[in-house]
This record gives sequence, C-alpha cells and structure tokens, in this order.
Amino acid sequence: MNTIKSMDDFNHKIKKIIITEEEIKAAIQKAGADISRLYDGNPILLVGILKGSFVFLSDLSRAVNAPCEIGFMCAKSYYSETVSSGNVKITMDLEQDISKYHVVIAEDIVDTGRTLKEVVAILKARNPLSLQVVTLLDKPDRRLVDFKADVSLFTIPDFFVIGYGLDCAEYFRNLPYIAEYNTEN
Ligand code: IMP
Ligand code: MG
Repeated sequence: MNTIKSMDDFNHKIKKIIITEEEIKAAIQKAGADISRLYDGNPILLVGILKGSFVFLSDLSRAVNAPCEIGFMCAKSYYSETVSSGNVKITMDLEQDISKYHVVIAEDIVDTGRTLKEVVAILKARNPLSLQVVTLLDKPDRRLVDFKADVSLFTIPDFFVIGYGLDCAEYFRNLPYIAEYNTEN
C-alpha cells in the first residue's frame, strides 16, 4: 500500500536527482548509435523487461537506426535468503520465436543480478541468433550472482533509486530523471 497521499508526500520522497534528463538522453543516443553500428542493418528484436524498462526501451528504440521489432516480457523474482536461483517466473512471455532474431534485452537496473541471469539463461536456451543485455543502471556493489550486462549506461552506488521507469511501491516511474529515494519519513 502506498502511503503517499499528496504532492508534498510525493516530493518529500525525492531526495536528490543523481542522473538528469539530459545525461540520460546523451547516454541513450550513444548506446543507440553503438547498437545501430553493431548490427549493421540486420533486423533486431528489442526486448523490454516490464515494468521497469518501459521508459528506457521507448527512448532506446528511437535512438536505434535499424529494422527493429519490439517485444516485452514480465519477470517476477521470488527469493528467500537461502535459495539463489530458480526463482524467477516469466509471467508474460515474448510472442516471437527468437531463433530467428538478434535479441537485445533492455533492462532498467541490474541489482543482485538474479532476474537477468535467469532471463538470459531462459532466452539463450531458445537459441537466438545472438543476444546481448543493455542496462540503463548497474549497482555492482549489490551483486549476489555472477552476472554482467554487455552494456551499462550508468554505474551507481548502493542506494535505492526511483524515476525513469523505476518505482517504489509503483510510484515515481514517471519522473523524467533518476533520483535517490528518501527512506526517511
Ligand atoms: P535484480 O536484483 O538484479 O534481480 O533486480 C530485480 C529488480 O529489482 C530490477 O529489475 C528492478 O525492477 C528492481 N530494483 C533493483 N534495484 C532497484 C532500485 O534501486 N530502485 C527500483 N527498483 C530496483
Ligand atoms: Mg525491473
């Protein structure tokens, strides 16, 4: 349940902007140009992991100059402290048979690494032509499993962030920047 009831409550939770709209835009332009160059006109399937990646995917797709299909997956993690794998459930899957595609996964953040490690394993088992992971944010200090994105636009310290698709209790996804979340009441 969200305890935010007013604009004042909402603004109070935005502690500090750590990545501005302009910085995000510039990094995405560069990532899009790199992707366009890498695939050299070959069709790609850009896959967004919902919900967090919806803003990033939308901007990244428009920075890519290549024939490009869009797909979405929804992955939910169920973790206890003791079990470190096998706990990611795909609650919405791709429609495409990815054996015919160069797949580019767009993710909002790699935190413990557990979600993407398992999503990548699931997709690799379907034999795509190629697969790479592009993440907007990386929090390497929090990693619990061995996972590294192929491309990471920003590396951030270990604190909770909101905005640009990332939420806290479903709010703040619509902020146009990345901010540190204020954990104080
Ligand atoms: P994982 O721990 O790498 O499996 O990340 C799982 C998911 O947790 C990410 O895809 C995000 O949706 C969410 N997450 C991790 N860190 C943050 C954060 O700082 N802010 C908002 N969501 C986060
Ligand atoms: Mg996510």
